[in-house]
Amino acid sequence: MINGRTIDIAPSILSADFSRLGEEIDAVKRGGATLLHVDVMDGHFVPNLTIGLPVVKSLAKATDLPIDAHLMISQPGVYAQQFVEAGAKMVSVHVEADANLHRTLASIRTAGALAGVVINPATPIETLSEALSFADYVLVMSVNPGFGGQKFITTAIDKVKRLKRMIADRQLAVRIEIDGGIDLENIAAVVASGAEIIVAGSAIFGAADPEAAVRGMREATMQWV
Ligand code: DX5
Ligand code: ZN
Repeated sequence: MINGRTIDIAPSILSADFSRLGEEIDAVKRGGATLLHVDVMDGHFVPNLTIGLPVVKSLAKATDLPIDAHLMISQPGVYAQQFVEAGAKMVSVHVEADANLHRTLASIRTAGALAGVVINPATPIETLSEALSFADYVLVMSVNPGFGGQKFITTAIDKVKRLKRMIADRQLAVRIEIDGGIDLENIAAVVASGAEIIVAGSAIFGAADPEAAVRGMREATMQWV
């Protein structure tokens, strides 16, 4: 151990083959995945529909990888606690979607999961200044939410660096997650900037061998752990 950082690789099942989801999950686990990222979309907060509570419930029974639920839905406060009850160990909500963020984050923690705050690419880190005290992690979007396979927005690197400084200045234990367009090319820069929970969808499940893809991404982060 050189730096003592824990890097989590969180494959996003959005890009998996849903007809063989169990096998896909087993493969990424063998490759070294430490979390499972589940993208919940409501066709309202983002222009896409995906999966919800019943799938999280089934996944929680089928795998021992902790489920990281990313809620891209309007009124996340109505559902956040239900995702914990369905088995998610981490639940994150967008600042852009929630007028009662403190209440929602508290409900996630009370239900027994880690509470995360998500910010879109054009949302400044300054909007987090109060919420940081009530969150366990911040998810910085490096694409606009809604779809897998989009191009990484490079300004996210500097944004993560500034957020990391903000957290350090406040002496908080908040971790940084990053999501969107992460691949073998940019994962090293992303981790160097301060992100510790790395989400990747198409770079893993779009690869011929998802197990090897996770292994490759993990190896690319070794110098920081
Ligand atoms: C986008 C989702 C992401 C998505 C990432 O709205 O939040 O988790 O699955 O996919 P890639 O890694 O392909 O950008
Ligand atoms: Zn996501």
